[in-house]
Amino acid sequence: MSCENQHRFTEKDIPDLSGYVIIVTGGNSGIGFETTKQLALRNARVYIASRSEERVAKAIQEMEQSVGQKLDLHFLKIDLQDLKSVTDAAARFMQQESRLDILINNAGIMMSPFSLTVDGFESQWQINALAPQIFSMALFPILMQTASDANSRDRVRIINVVSDLAFRGPKTIQLDDVNMSNAKGMMELMQRYSHSKQAGIRLAAEMNNRYGDFGISAYSLHPGIVRSNLQSSDPTIGAYNSLFCATSPMAAAVGRGKYFIPVGKLDPVAEPWINDKAHNEQLWNHCEAQLLRVSKRT
Ligand SMILES: NC(=O)c1ccc[n+]([C@@H]2O[C@H](COP(=O)([O-])OP(=O)(O)OC[C@H]3O[C@@H](n4cnc5c(N)ncnc54)[C@H](OP(=O)(O)O)[C@@H]3O)[C@@H](O)[C@H]2O)c1
Repeated sequence: MSCENQHRFTEKDIPDLSGYVIIVTGGNSGIGFETTKQLALRNARVYIASRSEERVAKAIQEMEQSVGQKLDLHFLKIDLQDLKSVTDAAARFMQQESRLDILINNAGIMMSPFSLTVDGFESQWQINALAPQIFSMALFPILMQTASDANSRDRVRIINVVSDLAFRGPKTIQLDDVNMSNAKGMMELMQRYSHSKQAGIRLAAEMNNRYGDFGISAYSLHPGIVRSNLQSSDPTIGAYNSLFCATSPMAAAVGRGKYFIPVGKLDPVAEPWINDKAHNEQLWNHCEAQLLRVSKRT
């Protein structure tokens, strides 16, 4: 079954989201900003998970001014460069809220020069791949509870915003050196970005394999080329694929665990990665080991 007919999906197709609680990482800027605004306009309560309360307050003010109404928007402090901050954010959220319907792992950096985080990981790997996965895993208790209370197995969703540049990097995940410390040359930074985005595709597939039957489905997507802080076209259109994967019944009907290109189209190019169960499990285990390590830290 194809979902080619969904290519005209726009914000008008978002259903009413009253009663939904949603987290959008990086919702203060670019694609995340537009994604957050559209979800909140459909009556969802949306948490913008970001490292800067000031930038989030400004973003909320801009969103409310642009639509001329108050929106149910909140700040959740998180710094993806620090895994302890990630697990702390999940714990804080679970103290504040009793449900989480949708998690959109949107925040990311692109082509940043090599640097190591406090956790010892190359920054693109950690911010784009490892930290979002650890955030998802740390939020599983509330996601599972929400899924078990839901009448539908399609309501609770995790969305990984990746990139079609994922296919310009290594053919598989370099589990023996996730930092790709040996990558050199002009394409070094791109290779690491691509590698981190490949992980987002594989982890969404594995998440769906493990938790789909419990009512948590996962998706990965390329937003398109969008003017934002990272790139120099319209962020609203750039948010469509995230909004499609997060809210459309069609996404769940045709693409649980799959990779989507704009808007709402399955791209078979990712299938070898999506079906590479053995390697995806190893990648999952790598992330889980980091979650355990951080959880033991006080
Ligand atoms: N724009 C494109 O054409 C394009 C194409 C393909 C894929 N993508 C993907 O789409 C997603 C959104 O990109 P965008 O273009 O909207 O970028 P953007 O405007 O630069 O937004 C990136 C967001 O990520 C946040 N972020 C960065 N580092 C963080 C950290 N350590 N902790 C917490 N948040 C952090 C930023 O927060 P601050 O404001 O605090 O920096 C910002 O809110 C990214 O995953 C990107 O890879 C974009």
